[in-house]
Amino acid sequence: MIWNLGSINIDNFYEVPHLPLPGETLAATGFGFGLGGKGANMSVAAARAAARVSHIGAVGANGRWTRERLMEYGVDVPHIAQLDTPTGHANIVIDRQGENSIVLFHGANVELTEAIIGAALTEASPGDFLLMQNETNGQDYAAETAQALGLRVAYAAAPFDAKVTEGLLGKIDLLILNAVEAQQLEEATGKTADALGIADVVITLGAQGCKWVSDAGEKHFDAYPTEVVDTTGAGDTFTGYLVAALDRGMDMDGAIDLALKAASLMVARRGTADVIPDLKEIQDQFGL
Ligand code: RIB
Repeated sequence: MIWNLGSINIDNFYEVPHLPLPGETLAATGFGFGLGGKGANMSVAAARAAARVSHIGAVGANGRWTRERLMEYGVDVPHIAQLDTPTGHANIVIDRQGENSIVLFHGANVELTEAIIGAALTEASPGDFLLMQNETNGQDYAAETAQALGLRVAYAAAPFDAKVTEGLLGKIDLLILNAVEAQQLEEATGKTADALGIADVVITLGAQGCKWVSDAGEKHFDAYPTEVVDTTGAGDTFTGYLVAALDRGMDMDGAIDLALKAASLMVARRGTADVIPDLKEIQDQFGL
């Protein structure tokens, strides 16, 4: 079982000829909206990877539909609170090359209380996963509580903040970050990934795949080549699949392979939570 302390956003997508320049007013050539947020994307990915996942988060009255949608996608939602603060949202502009730029409003995502988080985690069992990212508050409390309860703690350090990540070292078992973030963390701590005291560190490398750093050393995995249409949510899909596969008892090699397959399908699609591939689509594409 996965307990995902995570953001829930309303994602607004604008297709644009190029990313806006300072002072520029730019007409979008397309618009859409859907369910998003790094947390919600990971919950949906984990559910589509056939794991049981309970989302811990908060929305405002304008985001009641996002909770419903998570439920329709197979995510447990009793620990998503409705607060007086507006739901978080993200305005995502995507250019013709699939590059994006995102403006984020945290809203209810950063109004979580220890009571909301604690009530969820008291239902957890030893061996379950606590999954977290950096778009909510409460990670410290959640990680400490989860550790005390014997959960495995996974943290996707995005959006990256070296100080926050540094503060969580010693409280996490699995750290997922990209190459730039790994470099920034090394500069902040003076330590390479293998010296952070974390059992497993997975560094994503985009089209180059990823590397897994553990006691056993460093292992590289190639990405599955694909046409890139929109990279938004691909990292979240990777992490959701990775943690789901580990939770379901796969070893790290198998879990990373599955996560890379899911991410390769995701970058070929426009959108976030609503278009995350399921196991059947991965099977159809790769013949598992
Ligand atoms: O990683 C993609 C996500 O980042 C989007 O869904 C958006 O909500 C932002 O949080």
